[in-house]
Amino acid sequence: MRRPGYHHRQHGKSTTGGGGVKGMVGRLSIGVVVILICTGSLLFTSTSNGGGRSAYRSEINIEELWRSTDSGGWRPSSAPRSEWPPPPSETNGYLRVRCNGGLNQQRSAICNAVLAARIMNATLVLPELDVNSFWGRDDSGFHGIYDVEHFIQSLRFDVRIVESLPEIRKNGKTKKIKALQINPPRDAEVSWYTTVALEKMKQHGAIYLTPFSHRLSEEVDNPEYQRLRCRVNYHALRFKPQIMKLSQSIVDKLRTQGHFMSIHLRFEMDMLAFAGCFDIFSPQQQKTLKKYREENFAPKKLVYSERRAIGKCPLTPEEVGLLLRAMGFDNSTRIYLAAGELFGGEKFMKPFRSLFPHLENHSSVEHSEELAGNTRGLLGSAVDYMVCLLSDIFMPTYDGPSNFANNLLGHRLYYGFRTTLRPDRKGLAPIFIDREKGKMAGFEEAVRQVMLKTNFGGPHKRVSPESFYTNSWPECFCQMSPQNLADKCPPDNVLEILNNQLESEDLNSSALSNSSGSVAER
Ligand SMILES: *[C@@H]1O[C@H](CO)[C@@H](O)[C@H](O)[C@H]1NC(C)=O
Ligand SMILES: *[C@@H]1O[C@H](CO)[C@@H](O)[C@H](O)[C@H]1NC(C)=O
Ligand SMILES: *[C@@H]1O[C@H](CO)[C@@H](O)[C@H](O)[C@H]1NC(C)=O
Ligand SMILES: *[C@@H]1O[C@H](CO)[C@@H](O)[C@H](O)[C@H]1NC(C)=O
Ligand SMILES: *[C@@H]1O[C@H](CO)[C@@H](O)[C@H](O)[C@H]1NC(C)=O
Repeated sequence: MRRPGYHHRQHGKSTTGGGGVKGMVGRLSIGVVVILICTGSLLFTSTSNGGGRSAYRSEINIEELWRSTDSGGWRPSSAPRSEWPPPPSETNGYLRVRCNGGLNQQRSAICNAVLAARIMNATLVLPELDVNSFWGRDDSGFHGIYDVEHFIQSLRFDVRIVESLPEIRKNGKTKKIKALQINPPRDAEVSWYTTVALEKMKQHGAIYLTPFSHRLSEEVDNPEYQRLRCRVNYHALRFKPQIMKLSQSIVDKLRTQGHFMSIHLRFEMDMLAFAGCFDIFSPQQQKTLKKYREENFAPKKLVYSERRAIGKCPLTPEEVGLLLRAMGFDNSTRIYLAAGELFGGEKFMKPFRSLFPHLENHSSVEHSEELAGNTRGLLGSAVDYMVCLLSDIFMPTYDGPSNFANNLLGHRLYYGFRTTLRPDRKGLAPIFIDREKGKMAGFEEAVRQVMLKTNFGGPHKRVSPESFYTNSWPECFCQMSPQNLADKCPPDNVLEILNNQLESEDLNSSALSNSSGSVAER
């Protein structure tokens, strides 16, 4: 799996010093992802090179950016590190959830649902995925996107999951348990689940939480709970084989000519309307954006120059091009663009394309009928997700809460600190503004100085508002020789231990697990 010419990085923002265990080395392929995720191996095996040195980065070295970032001895690991009993044989009831939002908002909601079920000793009903209006009709649901059997199997040590609510017999008739509908508080605390929600569940046998996005606090003061979220997000949630195959085919084609970068070019109508960044567009386009804003978002007075100055406007394609050029990427760089339809037309793409002519997207690389019929639906979004995950460098141009870019930042961190470029839009705005005013001198150096302050996807402390789903360090990472005992990698046979626990639990409970009787009687 090693990339030709691979050698140690001599820098990176790590403060832990020596013992440079590299995360995932070199090119990560879908094969590796599949193996990692599907063997049920909760433990990540990474390659130890030993003896890496770390120092602060003083200049940008493109060759090094094409490799993974210095791990500082950390490796991803989401297996339990302390007592973790199997789900109890007797359930407290059934938990149904409806995950709203697009593919990525749903992804974190699914992780929250599994954790909520664990906290409540409940049986989880396979999460329902909302049909999203912006992305077009798409009623494929969980089965259409994810590998259901793998999901249930790989979480067997954590929660019981059923595909639908069971039927109960009452007065000689069979019918489905009826779940009590509840609208949970936003970012509810664990205690809400163990009190209010649990009480209703025990009364009714089942509850239905809807809508279910951001309904469980991200900062939970229990690292085992956070690791469960990582097991769901990075091991149990696997796209269906057909999506993995399509993504692999795209990655293979892009790789025939060497490494490639992916960019989430969030220069889309909804984003621009939301951000209120209008002035750069034609009067007609501004009308379109303003209308979309009125129809979809709360009214707010938004002044372009002010919005831009505080980093609230997504980078324009030209700014992305100038930024990459300043960093030292040349016009031979292959770039995969992940995005829906770009707003503003060719006028905005042309300056970017002239700097970086090798631009691709899923439809230009892969002429698949399946994709053609669903480019902007969940399938297109899932394929973009995988290609961005596997690319050598990833750059988001806007990162709002719980979206595509944030999940990818977190996922790439977990898969071995794969390089990300996170432009500090607020830091860059005055530099771009000066350039527009004709001040060209020192532009590139100023851009480099802003970029040098970012972490390039290495381990770093999570500071609010950074989300757990964007950065699961340190909970979901461990060290072989840690300074802090809580960071010590769990033993290699942790799966065996969990399996034995589960088996003995199953033997004792087999008499009880026959029916949903305990619930039906309530
Ligand atoms: C869940 O079950 C465990 C034992 O497996 C128990 O310690 C815990 O209190 C239970 N929690 C709830 C909310 O029932
Ligand atoms: C890339 O840039 C070089 C000069 O730096 C130029 O000669 C070449 O034509 C450019 N290639 C493309 C495809 O634009
Ligand atoms: C992909 O790129 C092609 C050619 O550059 C373009 O015509 C098409 O609109 C792009 N598709 C998407 C979904 O952006
Ligand atoms: C299962 O039952 C055996 C014998 O009754 C007991 O020793 C063991 O602790 C039980 N295991 C669990 C997980 O309850
Ligand atoms: C489940 O219930 C059926 C009928 O009630 C019974 O025949 C069977 O033995 C039970 N299975 C277990 C594992 O208890």
